[in-house]
Amino acid sequence: MKKVLIEGEDYYLSDRGFRVFTEKYLLDRGYCCMSGCKHCPYGFNKLVDQIRKKVKPRTMTFQEEILQGIPSQLPPSALYDATINHAPKRKEILTDEEKTLALRNALRYFEPQHHATLIPEFKEELEKYGRIYMYRFRPKYRMYARDINEYPGKSLQAKAIQMMIQNNLDYAVAQHPHELITYGGNGAVFSNWAQYLLTMKYLAEMTDEQTLVMYSGHPMGLFPSHKNAPRVVVTNGMMIPNYSKPDDWEKFNALGVTQYGQMTAGSYMYIGPQGIVHGTTITVLNGFRKIGKEPKGNLFVTSGLGGMSGAQPKAGTIAGCITVCAEVNPKITKIRHQQGWIHEIIENLDQLVDRVRKAQVNKEVVSIAYLGNVVDVWEKFDQEDLHIDLGSDQTSLHNPWAGGYYPVGQSFEESNQMMAEQPELFKQKVQETLCRHAAAINKHTAKGTYFFDYGNAFLLEASRAGADVMNPTPTLGREFKYPSYVQDIMGPMCFDYGFGPFRWVCASNNPEDLQKTDDIACAVLEEMIKTSPEGIQQQMKDNIQWIRGAQENKLVVGSQARILYADAEGRMNIARAFNDAIAAGKIGPVVLGRDHHDVSGTDSPYRETSNIYDGSRFTADMAIHNVIGDSFRGATWVSIHNGGGVGWGEVINGGFGMLLDGTLEAEQRLKSMLFWDVNNGISRRSWARNEGAVFAIKRAMEAEPLLKVTLPNIVDDNLLK
Ligand SMILES: NC(=O)c1ccc[n+]([C@@H]2O[C@H](COP(=O)([O-])OP(=O)(O)OC[C@H]3O[C@@H](n4cnc5c(N)ncnc54)[C@H](O)[C@@H]3O)[C@@H](O)[C@H]2O)c1
Repeated sequence: MKKVLIEGEDYYLSDRGFRVFTEKYLLDRGYCCMSGCKHCPYGFNKLVDQIRKKVKPRTMTFQEEILQGIPSQLPPSALYDATINHAPKRKEILTDEEKTLALRNALRYFEPQHHATLIPEFKEELEKYGRIYMYRFRPKYRMYARDINEYPGKSLQAKAIQMMIQNNLDYAVAQHPHELITYGGNGAVFSNWAQYLLTMKYLAEMTDEQTLVMYSGHPMGLFPSHKNAPRVVVTNGMMIPNYSKPDDWEKFNALGVTQYGQMTAGSYMYIGPQGIVHGTTITVLNGFRKIGKEPKGNLFVTSGLGGMSGAQPKAGTIAGCITVCAEVNPKITKIRHQQGWIHEIIENLDQLVDRVRKAQVNKEVVSIAYLGNVVDVWEKFDQEDLHIDLGSDQTSLHNPWAGGYYPVGQSFEESNQMMAEQPELFKQKVQETLCRHAAAINKHTAKGTYFFDYGNAFLLEASRAGADVMNPTPTLGREFKYPSYVQDIMGPMCFDYGFGPFRWVCASNNPEDLQKTDDIACAVLEEMIKTSPEGIQQQMKDNIQWIRGAQENKLVVGSQARILYADAEGRMNIARAFNDAIAAGKIGPVVLGRDHHDVSGTDSPYRETSNIYDGSRFTADMAIHNVIGDSFRGATWVSIHNGGGVGWGEVINGGFGMLLDGTLEAEQRLKSMLFWDVNNGISRRSWARNEGAVFAIKRAMEAEPLLKVTLPNIVDDNLLK
């Protein structure tokens, strides 16, 4: 269909200035304009019903709709579907002049003849929701990851990216699918539907001699490149540093010029809850190792059953411990129970104590949701002298004043009302609760509990509330009484050795392919463990156990995807084995990727790089080098984001996607890029004097003579005294 309508051929202007479509134009498309125009020269106005019956309207195929991009005729305006989970109304932040600018910006995507219709509609969206999502342009086809062959296009790589984008917007996967938000409340794939339509069209049209340039959701266009270049380069939320405060996001996002891509939302690499379940399982397993205990019969206490936090009881069960997870929201508690992510719900503290004691005696593997405030659990278990082995928290303390953390001593409903009507009082209650929360944890840790911050800003917000969480003898990087999970667990046990969240998606979207790739990955790891050094055997064993149980745990939501933690060698070996299987026709193409929360992908001083103690944890050179290095070593697409996990302005993170198609070129690309993608981070961690990383980078240099990394010399501490 032509995008620009031609006067005389497609339509003519009536004497009253109305556009009247020509008979050819209308009949070619199988319909009349149905507007009932009195002046229709073809008499369609009188014949509408007959025409409706006679001319069967031809619906577009999925491929035609993609290729159409932004339709040149306006689709009917869309109703707000109240059955879908929608993004909350965003903060009112624009001045009147800026609101006009936001409208002007939005209208850039549309032909001028539509502006008069769209202006009131977009204005209303901006007033009502704080953003212009362009709901009218939301496609009517089902949104999900299809078999790669169903996508239109000239480039297999670009088809893979179309599939990944659709997965991130699948209703089963995305948190607010109509607002193009995948997870984390504001983790966006695009800012509006015009960007989606245009991007998909570009991907469907492009060749392997072009690169699509994405500016924070906006497709700037296709630029000539070459077949070894990335097909897509994504940036999200990259700001001039002084304009990177939370309100800057509100303002510039509302203007339509930037977006918060979270980690894997705006990089098209989200694979549902599986990633967080795996990461939490590894954390819980290693947490128990840290304290020298078996998970079996021992207790893990935490809170939150939300989007990410809901993974904790499932992970506790996979790790094999007793999990008590407190949650104040009855609805979400019920949902997690129905989903089978928790075994039991208890609403009474005495019953909870009895049930946990029984589970401890019987060494049960059980997950219990306590419907209520987590502070009550910590305090009650202290009074009852019930020993907690491992403790953490995953309420949303990156967002403490707007529903991320609920005060103790009042109901969920009372809190919600107070939040809206008395925000200052609510804030005070949250801070008081944080102080009580920390005080109760302190009592338990004095009795031997191991507590860690799980990347939700618990210690940061508790410290801001005046809670007793500061280290009495602080050192650089150890300001708090308790460590973050990266400082004690994930950093020294995984990231420093190169182990991180490697993932893949079977582009056929066939579950049988996933089963075959699971078997391939398992066989590769089982072979590797025979000769791997002692220092990394445990990580290998954990991941072999995980991949063996992966099918049974039924963690696939959306695309046929899998995650496991592997080091550079493991990632390369698994990828090579997949590529061979594709070449042999055993499986279809495979997309490789990873979470940004990885060895090299993320510079985040209170999370991923919190175990860097040479003062460089506030720099972001590693993440930037990572994306540049991946882009010229064969990534199919690369992305770099401001924000993700811990908030706008607090982190820079990047990632990649790579299509394996069974070719020799794919084999060369995977070898070159995966080696860099992991060893970049190990070299930085090694330069920061992290022991595991020094070991790992020396090993990498032995395996690859072309790798020459600057190693640190260690000074005798006595000389510095
Ligand atoms: N460590 C990681 O790898 C990692 C990964 C992703 C997210 N996070 C962080 O984890 C946090 C949680 O993320 P989410 O997506 O699950 O958030 P969410 O808001 O969906 O879930 C948090 C839950 O905590 C509950 N809650 C709040 N206060 C409570 C209280 N006092 N007692 C009991 N329950 C309470 C809320 O009702 C909510 O259901 C965020 O801060 C996020 O940034 C960490």
